[in-house]
Amino acid sequence: MIDNAAAGSPTSHAPSPTDAFLGDPAVQEQWDRRYAEREQLWSGQPNGALVAEVAGLTPGRVLDVGCGEGADAIWLANHGWDVTAVEVSAVALERATRHGRDAGVTVRWVHAELTEAAFAPASFDLVSAQYPALLRTSDAAAERALLAAVAPGGVLLFVHHAGVDTHPQHDGGFDPADFVWPAMMAALFDDDWVVEVDEQRPRVAPVGGAGAHHVDDVVLRARRLR
Ligand SMILES: C[S@@+](CC[C@H](N)C(=O)[O-])C[C@H]1O[C@@H](n2cnc3c(N)ncnc32)[C@H](O)[C@@H]1O
Repeated sequence: MIDNAAAGSPTSHAPSPTDAFLGDPAVQEQWDRRYAEREQLWSGQPNGALVAEVAGLTPGRVLDVGCGEGADAIWLANHGWDVTAVEVSAVALERATRHGRDAGVTVRWVHAELTEAAFAPASFDLVSAQYPALLRTSDAAAERALLAAVAPGGVLLFVHHAGVDTHPQHDGGFDPADFVWPAMMAALFDDDWVVEVDEQRPRVAPVGGAGAHHVDDVVLRARRLR
């Protein structure tokens, strides 16, 4: 794990090639390639569903899963949250840390796969996964890691593009069966959880960026009771 937020410092620095990535190098490489195709992949704006859902929450410790180029993490830090952001792509994380430094915010940037990051159980008041592209495994490791990270009383916010989970396999190699979708998360909530939001709604799309063509979101928000 890389903790780039030095105590007392509002800055963060980019991961260097010597930083130890915790995870499958093939997953990192795949995302690094995607990010390297453009100088900026996403819009640079926080996701609309995050902004809407966080509005009623008291800032605390938040984990941003698959933080990409850092717009959500930086927005959260600017709104009083103590932010940890985990990301597999070194290319994305370098951009995120640079944007964080430019914005003068403190974010703990972690270069790892969610399942390998070994976050302390129940250590976040909010776990936010915005279009997270988590790989599905038979033991539901990613889903369980998301659930385990939420503290009692805390919230899991899982947002995805509506309809993508039912797309036929794309020629480019994208197969929805490879990924974790909101319905899979919802199926894992037991009596310790209450679902507060589970709906499809028009996406408040940031201007620009590679995801601008998506129209609707599926928003799943659940609170851990104990
Ligand atoms: C579709 S992008 C969304 C990025 C960002 N959340 C946003 O909304 O702009 C998915 C991100 O998840 C990252 N990612 C994929 N698998 C991951 C994993 N297992 N752990 C952490 N990050 C992961 C990718 O590198 C990519 O940056």
